[in-house]
Amino acid sequence: MEIKVRELSNGVKIPVVGFGAYKIQNENDEACNVIKNAIKAGYRSIDTASFYENEEGVGRGIRESNIPREELFITTKVWIDDDGYENTLKAFDKSLERLGLDYIDLYLVHWPTENIKETWRAMEDLYRRKKVRAIGVCNCTIEQLESIIDFAEINPMVNQVELHPKRTEKELLKVCKRHNIVVEAWSPIMRGQLLSNEIIKNLAKKYNKSEVQIILRWHLQNEVIAIPKTKTLSRINENIDIFDFEISKDDMEKIDSINNDERMKPQAYENLYKVTKKEIV
Ligand SMILES: NC(=O)c1ccc[n+]([C@@H]2O[C@H](COP(=O)([O-])OP(=O)(O)OC[C@H]3O[C@@H](n4cnc5c(N)ncnc54)[C@H](OP(=O)(O)O)[C@@H]3O)[C@@H](O)[C@H]2O)c1
Repeated sequence: MEIKVRELSNGVKIPVVGFGAYKIQNENDEACNVIKNAIKAGYRSIDTASFYENEEGVGRGIRESNIPREELFITTKVWIDDDGYENTLKAFDKSLERLGLDYIDLYLVHWPTENIKETWRAMEDLYRRKKVRAIGVCNCTIEQLESIIDFAEINPMVNQVELHPKRTEKELLKVCKRHNIVVEAWSPIMRGQLLSNEIIKNLAKKYNKSEVQIILRWHLQNEVIAIPKTKTLSRINENIDIFDFEISKDDMEKIDSINNDERMKPQAYENLYKVTKKEIV
C-alpha cells in the first residue's frame, strides 16, 4: 500500500494519511512494535508528542523498520509546560534525543498559550537552522491562527485540530486554505464514538466499506489529513484501505450534516481555549 503525498506551503511533501501514536506506551515494546507494524502496512507519517511519553519507543520502531529515514515523515510537538523561547528549544532537543533522530519533519506547538509569540520565534529558528523541515500549530481557532500570522515571519504550515463528522470546522478549513495551511484532523474517528451513527452505518453498507473507512475517506476528499490511531493490527491495515472508492458529493454532504460542533472532553480543554487574541499578540 503506497500512500500518496501532498505539498505543504514550503514544498515539503506530507503523506495524505498519517498514524496517530497517542495512548501507545513505551512499556513492553508496545510503541516500538505498533510503529513497526504501521510502517510495514504502508504508513510513512507518524504523529507523536512529548506529552505522549512514547517518543523513545516510537523512535525505536522507526529505526527497526529499516525504512530509509528520508522516506518517513515524523511529527512531534512541544507541550504547554515548555512554552516560551528557551524552553521550546530545550524541549525540541529532548524530543530529538528520545526519538534518536537528527531532524524532525514537522514540529508542532501542541496548544497555543499566552507565550505563543516567544514559542513561535523558537519554532522559526528551528526551521531556519534546518532542524525541522516544517513547523505548525495545533488547536488554533481562526482568531488564534490569524494572530500568529500577524506576527510570524514564517507562517504555520499546518494546523492540527479536533475534526470529525461531529465537528467539521468548515470556516476554519476555508481560512486555512486561504493561508495555504494544511489541516490535520486529530481524533478523526472521534475515538470510535461515530461508529453507531445511522448515516455512517448506511454509507458503510452502500459502499461496502467499514464505518471507519467511510469517515477516513470523507477526510481525504475534504483535503484534510487524518491521523487515526490504533494498536490493533487488522485496524492498522483497515484504516489505510481507503483509496479504492469515492464517496459521492451527495453522500459527502450527508456526512457533513452530522456536524453539531461537538468537541471531545470540553471541560478538560476549556482553559486552553481561553487564550485570546489579546493575550497572544
Ligand atoms: N494535537 C492534539 O492536541 C491531539 C489531540 C489528540 C490526538 N492527537 C493525535 O491524533 C491521533 C488520533 O486521535 P485519537 O487517538 O485521539 O483518536 P482516533 O484516532 O479518532 O481514535 C482512536 C480509537 O479508535 C479505535 N480505532 C481505530 N481504528 C479503528 C477501526 N478501524 N475500527 C474501530 N475502532 C478503531 C482505536 O482502538 P485500538 O487502538 O484499541 O484499536 C482507539 O481507541 C492521536 O493518536 C494523536 O497522534 C493530537
